[in-house]
Amino acid sequence: MTKLNGPHTIVLVTCREHMEIAGKTQLKEDVSTVGWHMPCSHKPKMYAIAIFKNHFTAEVIKKSESFAVNFIPHEMEKEALFCGKHTGYHMDKFVEGKIETEEAYSIDAPIIKNALAVIECELEHQYESGDHIIFVGRIVSEEIKKEGKRLLHIDEDVFSTTQ
Ligand SMILES: Cc1cc2nc3c(=O)[nH]c(=O)nc-3n(C[C@H](O)[C@H](O)[C@H](O)COP(=O)(O)O)c2cc1C
Repeated sequence: MTKLNGPHTIVLVTCREHMEIAGKTQLKEDVSTVGWHMPCSHKPKMYAIAIFKNHFTAEVIKKSESFAVNFIPHEMEKEALFCGKHTGYHMDKFVEGKIETEEAYSIDAPIIKNALAVIECELEHQYESGDHIIFVGRIVSEEIKKEGKRLLHIDEDVFSTTQ
């Protein structure tokens, strides 16, 4: 798909919720690499992400009803690959991937400390789309934190950046 309509700006989607794991309730945080995302309304401001049904991120967002979209610098390619190849079902990707976080402003979630820009959303709609779920969030906070070259995904493990 990326060959057809790419390159895609890569974001890290972050979320947090109490989850039932092996019969125990635990506070879990997750971070997942996402290339399929877009703005989808001016008034109110809304943003959409497409997440594969079985991903842990999807489970957390369904329950927390919120998520953050972190636009990352191209220097975070290694972290994007790590978060795109491991699942939060089995590990804390923030710890294992050495990804620094800070607290979101308007939702209960971590955000990426080195992000160039962050959009925080409260879940408004979710649509089944084949094997993905399209989560549409109402933007409750948006911030451009700093200037920098963003990470673009070309194909497989190949990335590029903006001018
Ligand atoms: C460059 C890249 C782009 C990706 N884009 C998406 C995407 O748009 N939607 C999606 O569901 N998964 C996407 N993935 C895959 C998930 O990031 C990956 O399966 C991740 O391990 C899911 O983690 P989770 O189970 O903790 O949610 C992408 C992976 C990479 C490397």
